Amino acid sequence: MRPDTPPTDQERHLGRKEIIVSKTDLSGKITYANRKFMEISDFSEPELLGVQHNLIRHPDMPRAIFHFLWDQLEKGNEVFAYVKNLCKNGDYYWVFAHVTPSIQDDVTVGYHSNRRAVDPDIVTNIIAPFYQKLVAEEKSHSSPKEGLNASLGLLSTFIQDQGGNYDKWLFSL
Ligand SMILES: Cc1cc2nc3c(=O)[nH]c(=O)nc-3n(C[C@H](O)[C@H](O)[C@H](O)COP(=O)(O)O)c2cc1C
Repeated sequence: MRPDTPPTDQERHLGRKEIIVSKTDLSGKITYANRKFMEISDFSEPELLGVQHNLIRHPDMPRAIFHFLWDQLEKGNEVFAYVKNLCKNGDYYWVFAHVTPSIQDDVTVGYHSNRRAVDPDIVTNIIAPFYQKLVAEEKSHSSPKEGLNASLGLLSTFIQDQGGNYDKWLFSL
């Protein structure tokens, strides 16, 4: 169900007051998508519902970031992250995502994500170059597992260098 068109260099922008929302089940299959998600990505509701969220995964996104995201969610934590996403025709859009477990009666029943517009200067000067470094590390190993571990090592060192608090660093940008 991934778009069969290759990524383009064409960026789309989320408005300052707009929010993209989606919900997933425990395995990451989409159970809800708001209108803005469909508008910006060009995917229709039937194309999104019941489909793994990696449908909109952009190849410029490091595997380490998603590994970190799932690790935090499985621990019951909320996660913030800059994410570059694919549209159906290969265009892309950046978002600042807040992803949380959806809890009912003390049990995690799925996950929920709200995304807002990014500051383009932060993406261009800080996030995109950092993600490029992680992706390059991931691709420089013959085994995907080694690549991921090396990239997670870079991410962890980076967080330590920023004082050991990922959220504090993100919100200081
Ligand atoms: C609530 C929720 C929202 C997500 N949103 C996105 C998203 O916007 N873009 C994305 O690429 N992955 C998103 N993911 C992560 C995907 O499930 C997946 O881990 C990621 O696309 C990497 O896919 P891969 O492991 O198959 O490469 C989300 C996961 C959850 C639980």
